Amino acid sequence: MTYARIIGTGSYLPKKTLTNTELERMVDTTDEWIFSRTGIRERHIAADDEKTSDLAEHASRRALDSAGLQPADIDLVVVATTTADQVFPSVACLLQDRLGIHNGGPAFDVQAVCAGFVYAMDLANKFIQCGVVGRALVIGAETFSRIIDWTDRETCVLFGDGAGAVVLEAAEQPGVVSTHLHADGRYHELLAVPTGVSINYKQVLKGEAYTQMQGSEVFKFAVKCMVDVVDETLSINRLNKSDIDWLVPHQANSRIIAATARKLSLSMDKVIVTVDRHGNTSAASIPLAFDEAVREHRIVPGDTIIMEGFGGGFTWGSVLLRM
Ligand code: COA
Repeated sequence: MTYARIIGTGSYLPKKTLTNTELERMVDTTDEWIFSRTGIRERHIAADDEKTSDLAEHASRRALDSAGLQPADIDLVVVATTTADQVFPSVACLLQDRLGIHNGGPAFDVQAVCAGFVYAMDLANKFIQCGVVGRALVIGAETFSRIIDWTDRETCVLFGDGAGAVVLEAAEQPGVVSTHLHADGRYHELLAVPTGVSINYKQVLKGEAYTQMQGSEVFKFAVKCMVDVVDETLSINRLNKSDIDWLVPHQANSRIIAATARKLSLSMDKVIVTVDRHGNTSAASIPLAFDEAVREHRIVPGDTIIMEGFGGGFTWGSVLLRM
């Protein structure tokens, strides 16, 4: 049996930060409201000339460095993103060229919004398990600030930009133990950018492609999905909650994370939280949080970890892995 093991991690946050206090000057809000409802204090925002592929490149180079590999060692590039640089080619193809990976290996983007990274991990894991590739670079990267209406206080306080990456390598021991993906398209209207190439395109041309959300509905569904998918992951693998060293959840809102942990009777000491400093970076949030915890030596070799994501669609899923 072949498994996919994480052998390197990296992340990148744009230099510019946007604090709640600065947001108070942009929309009718307060630091107290934002922090008490979301746990967010600040988020990072990409510079005008900084693209999703730029963020992805920084995170990828750091992940390759930590794995002790050169770009040419990578056989597969998968980028989870909702905010690709351009309609096509994919960020993965742009990145493959930028990194100098010219071996003809596959490269593609995955679009599952905030669950994108767990979808990308699932795919890369399967490529490795099937023996199609030996090493994969899996990235979550977003310039979500570009699809936010900065006059809408209900959404603009929640999101930020960033990128995180992992290098996966074929190994005899796990590694990724199991992945669990779900979607329910009946809820597509609750969280969406309802404009694009084949719908409401004139709004896109006017620069009005913005995230819309029914916050409290999304909140309830997010908690349910996050709890259910952890239960599913544990039960399929015949594990107890006490077998989990770390939960690395999608960083949307500290109240969603805390409610999930409470329903699972998991101590917050076992949960990686970065939402206070990153906001919701969509597909980038899990690998950003994961890389931070690895670099701080909180996540260490031998640990058992569940990553879990939830996003528009709705889409959700988890990855159970051993370091
Ligand atoms: N500052 C001040 N007031 C705000 C505000 C802001 N930034 N945004 C909304 N409000 C107001 C609303 O206008 C509403 O006012 P009203 O009661 O006069 O109509 C009120 O706050 C809503 O408050 P409440 O119902 O207590 O909000 P909430 O506890 O549901 O929190 C969210 C709102 C958006 C933070 C919460 O629903 C949430 O996090 N939802 C999930 C969002 C998410 O994670 N999406 C991405 C998933 S991947």
